Amino acid sequence: MNILFMGPPGAGKGTQAERIVEEFGIPHISTGDAFRLAMKQGTPLGLKAKEYVDQGLLVPDEITNGIVKERLALDDCKKGFLLDGFPRTLQQAEALDVMLTELGRSIDHVVNLKVDRGLLLARLTGRRICKSCGTTYHVLFNPPKVEGVCDKDGGELYQRSDDTEEKVGTRLDEYTSKTAPLLDYYSGKGLLREVDGEKDIDVVTSDIVSCLKGTL
Ligand code: AP5
Ligand code: ZN
Repeated sequence: MNILFMGPPGAGKGTQAERIVEEFGIPHISTGDAFRLAMKQGTPLGLKAKEYVDQGLLVPDEITNGIVKERLALDDCKKGFLLDGFPRTLQQAEALDVMLTELGRSIDHVVNLKVDRGLLLARLTGRRICKSCGTTYHVLFNPPKVEGVCDKDGGELYQRSDDTEEKVGTRLDEYTSKTAPLLDYYSGKGLLREVDGEKDIDVVTSDIVSCLKGTL
């Protein structure tokens, strides 16, 4: 199954993607994760991406499209994939259509996680991530058993540099002006599935699974 996850920053795309890829046995492709890894390693891509990510701005399309094109061509994507955080502009969506046509594949479902803007700031500023395994927590909504420590492997939890109040504001504005219009693009193709992302994490997961299996 070939799936796209859409939704504003903090809607729960990463949290749900971790669970859905396990359920369907497909790779999770997150452009945000790819940029953060390159930034951590200090590669030329990482240095370029940092100029944008640290300000809460979208990375230019030509850089982002190249990463996705390379990743989709790998063998493990033949069994399906979940794209999280891509596409984010109309130009990226059109480029993705071309990439998939070249590979002889197509999108099965576009899942949009709907969350009110007022909730997103609280979700993002309270988010904490494990340094060693990348699991996402929230200080109030999804806390680890021991404060600051990952339940799975005891790793230290950190806060993303773009999760400050000021940068979240810029990210939400980027979403509204450049990404939200894509909902009409996919709705027009009959691919859009809307899921209420404000419910409990487990409920959202089961709603997405039902939606993907065609029972919601
Ligand atoms: P990216 O990493 O994609 O960030 P984002 O879209 O801003 O999304 P987030 O990761 O912030 O949120 P999420 O929806 O995954 O929420 P999460 O599950 O963590 O992109 C980062 C940057 O990279 C961009 O700003 C841009 O610069 C660049 N970039 C990436 N892709 C790009 C592209 N295609 N083009 C150009 N530039 C690109 O949940 C958030 C919090 O809420 C967590 O703490 C979680 O525990 C909690 N939570 C989740 N679900 C629930 C729930 N149901 N109830 C209560 N709490 C919940
Ligand atoms: Zn961990």
